[in-house]
Amino acid sequence: MAEVRPVGIAGLGRYVPDRILTNQDLEKIVDTSDEWIVQRTGIRERRIAADDQVTSSLAVLAAQQALEHAGITAEELQLIICATVTGDQPFPATACRIGCDLGAKNAGGFDVSAACVGFVHASQVATNLVASGAYDRVLVCGAEILSRILDYEDRNTCVLFGDGSGAAVFTPHDDCQQGEYLGGSMSMEGGAEGILSQPAGGSRHPASADSVAQRLHFMKMGGTRVFRFAVRVFAKLVRDVIDQYGIDQLGCIIPHQVNQRIIETAMEQIGLSMDYVFCNIHRYGNTSAASVPIALREAYEAGRLEKGKLVVMPAFGAGMSWGHTIFRW
Ligand code: UT7
Repeated sequence: MAEVRPVGIAGLGRYVPDRILTNQDLEKIVDTSDEWIVQRTGIRERRIAADDQVTSSLAVLAAQQALEHAGITAEELQLIICATVTGDQPFPATACRIGCDLGAKNAGGFDVSAACVGFVHASQVATNLVASGAYDRVLVCGAEILSRILDYEDRNTCVLFGDGSGAAVFTPHDDCQQGEYLGGSMSMEGGAEGILSQPAGGSRHPASADSVAQRLHFMKMGGTRVFRFAVRVFAKLVRDVIDQYGIDQLGCIIPHQVNQRIIETAMEQIGLSMDYVFCNIHRYGNTSAASVPIALREAYEAGRLEKGKLVVMPAFGAGMSWGHTIFRW
């Protein structure tokens, strides 16, 4: 029988590219307005990767900050998991490039493809591997360059998303004494894959001149259905945590940064103040798998992770998939 031991977050990191794309910039590209974007989403600007950056380059910068925070070297890492839907290339795994560029000579690595839920799912894989005693030091990255799969002729999608990366190092809780993992969930509703997807480039629709001509290599989304789904599952996940632990235990909710209005509508349904929520969507838009770890590091820097209180991270997205993690800081 494998050992089961408490797991903690030893270090956090985040990186966003320097280039800023504002709503005013987008007004010049598609038929949209700053007013529409702010009212419907809360987003004011987003970051765009430089031409010479790839997803692993963003992840490495976040990972270096997380390793420094954890006080461990890249050589001490045993495993790297990268959550992304915009990896450097379909294969090999982006985690392999991250490991190579970090100098993580003793680590294995693989990617997790779960879109906006990617970091939350990958964190659960990591925590359970550490809890079992199989691994002691696991790096999880959430990194995306969504601007490379956005259609800047499609106002339904291009205004919503941005680029960035976040990272966390998981170790036995005894070694770091912070961010104890308490549990989480991983769920999906099959049959809804078409609502939010990159239609071409896989076995269903291999990349071809035709797929490019039809713009099927770009992200497609039925936003209103995603909106309703996200409000429903966000509210359920947070209610379940409150039922289990009690409202007095709740410190901070760090949701997938999907849309300010989705977050506010769900919080209203739960009957909880927005004061519990950490949001940075106005600055970065939706960065898919990177959104939760970027917000987590920024919440840490802002002093929002209260000692002894719960940090809850609900996420939802393509699939339709959803899940959450709960840590006691
Ligand atoms: O991580 C998961 C990823 N998914 C998401 O983040 C998306 C979640 N969904 C949403 O954020 C919202 O559904 C949207 C922001 C995408 C749309 O808000 P909405 O309240 O659901 O939209 P709506 O039905 O009130 O408005 C849709 C209208 C359409 O026009 P018509 O057909 O009603 O004339 C769109 O063409 O808004 C139009 N529209 C825009 N107008 C100006 C769509 N995008 C834009 C735009 N600028 N960028």
